[in-house]
Amino acid sequence: HEPSTASAGDAPAGFSFRIDGRDGAARTGVITTPRGAIRTPAFMPVGTQATVKGMYMDQVRALGADVILGNTYHLMLRPGAERVAGLGGLHRFGGWSGPILTDSGGFQVMSLSKLRKLSEQGVTFASHIDGSRFELTPERSIEIQGLLGSDIQMQLDECVALPNERAVIDKAMRLSIRWAERSRRAFESQPKGRALFGIVQGGDQPDLRVESARALAAMDFPGYSIGGLAVGEPQDVMLAMIETVMPHLPDDKPHYLMGVGTPDDLIGAIARGVDMFDCVMPTRNGRHGQAFSRFGKLNFRNARHAEDPRPVDETSSCPAARDYSRAYLHHLIRTEEMLGSMLVTWINLAYYQDLMAGARAAIAAGRFTDYAAEVRAGWQRGDL
Ligand code: GUN
Repeated sequence: HEPSTASAGDAPAGFSFRIDGRDGAARTGVITTPRGAIRTPAFMPVGTQATVKGMYMDQVRALGADVILGNTYHLMLRPGAERVAGLGGLHRFGGWSGPILTDSGGFQVMSLSKLRKLSEQGVTFASHIDGSRFELTPERSIEIQGLLGSDIQMQLDECVALPNERAVIDKAMRLSIRWAERSRRAFESQPKGRALFGIVQGGDQPDLRVESARALAAMDFPGYSIGGLAVGEPQDVMLAMIETVMPHLPDDKPHYLMGVGTPDDLIGAIARGVDMFDCVMPTRNGRHGQAFSRFGKLNFRNARHAEDPRPVDETSSCPAARDYSRAYLHHLIRTEEMLGSMLVTWINLAYYQDLMAGARAAIAAGRFTDYAAEVRAGWQRGDL
């Protein structure tokens, strides 16, 4: 049985990772940071704009989330990293006292490809808000993440969409390795206890993935991210790439799969040695009325829920899943009431946290394979 807040034990006050249990390639453990412990496998709710959309931070914490994610790109545009620093940093600004992980802007190199120019030096964005120009170099990305006060920072990288030409994937992977080195040098001036992760790229090309993982491992990062996945490839390709890189990443360091994914993706990745995840899916889909639950996905726009008095899941730890009827959620989503988006977001983040808590307990008990089969059988039951 897990304590509700992770204990760091006698780990040092800086950044560290301790593995407490293994089951096949799956691991459970604790990342210690000066701002608190992170139980792994961990799902990080996405807080792009210094808010987990539609949620109070107290609710996020009560769900059992130990860490949230923030975004360099969005916060540099608005309100600006220097302004956040002047207001006491991202933790004080957003009201979250636990660890914060920040992405570097590398994902926006892909997602905003029409608004940016790439060079060896870095990437120049035309702001998606007013068209003004912003330059992001590896050094500036790390400076911004430092100004925000981020506990776990990401190197600037180039994420490419799939499918793509091998030459494009190859070039982005090599640029990302050079940017990893520059990011690492820029990070050296930051306070002790913070961590910088390198990001593996290489698309769907196994040999490029291996080359990327080995180059980053040689730089001795305190943690390793796997990027450039869930960007258009099928799930089996994503899982195969995770299997390909894992033997080349230091086993005793945390492994973070960026931007993934569905509950089924998470289970598949945990089975292959991933420790950390983030994804907009529970919050974004929640805003649009799609719930994730023990019984699979429920779309509250659908008329089938209109007269259903049952709650989403009476056994859930989330009041929104227990105390409101499916008919009421359907009504709120159909009428586009903001409470509908808030309640379904809450239900989804609770489900993702419960799924991770279950995975941690199952790995510790040496029954992760059974756990994976049980949760998948639940999704098959569907909406009943
Ligand atoms: N988020 C999801 N994928 C990626 C990636 O490849 N790089 C970065 N920086 N962020 C991501």
